[in-house]
Amino acid sequence: MSNILCIGAGYVGGPTMAMIAKFCPEHKIMVVDINQDRIDSWNSDNLPIYEPGLLEVVQEARGRNLFFHSDVAEATRDADIIFVSVNTPTKMFGKGAGKAADLQFWEKTARDILANCRKREVIVVEKSTLPVRTAEAMAKILQSGKGSTHFSVVSNPEFLAEGTAIEDLTTPDRVLIGGEQNKHGRKAVEIVAELYAHWVPRERLLLTSVWSSELSKLVANAMLAQRISSVNSISALCERTEADITEVSKAIGMDTRIGSKFLEAGIGFGGSCFRKDILHLSYLCEYYGLPEVADYWGSVVRINEWQIDRFFQNILREQFSTLAGKTISLLGFAFKQDTGDTRDSPAIPLCEKLLGEHANVRVHDPKALENAKLDLKEMQGDITFFEDVYEATEGSHALALVTQWNEYRELDYERIFKMMAKPAFIFDGRNHLDHEKLFEIGFNVCPLGKSPLKYI
Ligand code: UDX
Ligand code: ADP
Repeated sequence: MSNILCIGAGYVGGPTMAMIAKFCPEHKIMVVDINQDRIDSWNSDNLPIYEPGLLEVVQEARGRNLFFHSDVAEATRDADIIFVSVNTPTKMFGKGAGKAADLQFWEKTARDILANCRKREVIVVEKSTLPVRTAEAMAKILQSGKGSTHFSVVSNPEFLAEGTAIEDLTTPDRVLIGGEQNKHGRKAVEIVAELYAHWVPRERLLLTSVWSSELSKLVANAMLAQRISSVNSISALCERTEADITEVSKAIGMDTRIGSKFLEAGIGFGGSCFRKDILHLSYLCEYYGLPEVADYWGSVVRINEWQIDRFFQNILREQFSTLAGKTISLLGFAFKQDTGDTRDSPAIPLCEKLLGEHANVRVHDPKALENAKLDLKEMQGDITFFEDVYEATEGSHALALVTQWNEYRELDYERIFKMMAKPAFIFDGRNHLDHEKLFEIGFNVCPLGKSPLKYI
């Protein structure tokens, strides 16, 4: 039996530890966070993050072998294996500002571990998305102490996607575990692999070097995001040539060499990983003297920003080039469906641009309203938040669908149409709705990457 500790009770740490606790009942799992409110939520049935199926897993293990606590120092003392999943946002100051990862939370954690742990052998597992070579830096900090503890640093990047985290954790495509290439390193990797082997078939456990593991995480995200930016760039061409992006996506996706996933054109990707990881990959290439490679990956992010702007420019043009005093209702604010997370959501720059044109912005989202309020706190202008989607749309000039929530497909659009200002417009930023049906009701429908259906 081991004492397993996870530092950082966020979107990654919480669900991952709940799953390990579920499948490894013989181990004691402690999850700590400096944020007391977060810990209190994890100890209640009102969890701090919305993730389908998570509450059931937490309820099964909590109090049995899964515990949430805010005393980081105390919990570190007895830990044999320490997962680190603290946040690593993009650095906003100094060298590498806007590109490099901000490692201050992460370094503080390394120092906390060094100051408090008491066991002879400790495995530190890097779980946050960290820049390549951070594990090496962490090992240096941990080995700088005078204590008798021997530390092994293992990289075990997370591939869970929000909204499907429990599914992704239950049946992962692969689990990557990278370790130092020596006896201690190999043993540490084996111990971490043994945890996952409780429920993941052995052939899906990929044991690699630390650097390969760290870099694979960045590259996986960059490749996924690149597919989205590629298809989004073609959506613009479709609009000019009267081709239909859904048909094009389907046609190319049926080529088994390309495959059908991650080819849905939309307003642009968001989330805590893609932008941050690509910028970091690009920064890394620049650092190692590869400016062309840096620029290649940088363009994936630039196309994403351009796509969001393109969506906004479409709204402005269709609204006769003036939005001043008009009401635009956003259907959704989260960066994708089935999550309340709004980090890097395309809704944020969209709101900023709409407010810049003096539009009145209304925001509806089934799970992300509180986060949306925080994101827009500093913005000047007329913004209101609605729990009821019919109130949010009443009297508005246009609806802009930002997030693919299922419930937006099931709304009573006849009722919404009757209450809107005319001519009524829908801008479907995710090609999520039934465009023909909306057009029959009377809406002017502007999808993405295909011809609009308009009365005017
Ligand atoms: C991603 C990776 O998928 C995951 O493996 C990694 O661990 C963390 O980053 P996540 O950010 O939670 O996960 O969501 P994901 O499902 O990848 O979607 C990211 C963004 O891309 C969303 O805004 C989504 O709407 C958008 N997207 C996705 C598209 O615009 N089109 C697509 O075809 C797919
Ligand atoms: P992720 O999506 O990577 O899980 P989150 O922001 O959701 O990121 O979670 C990271 C968590 O780590 C936050 O709840 C934050 O309070 C916590 N955290 C940051 N620094 C420390 C620290 N030094 N000790 C403990 N917890 C920390």
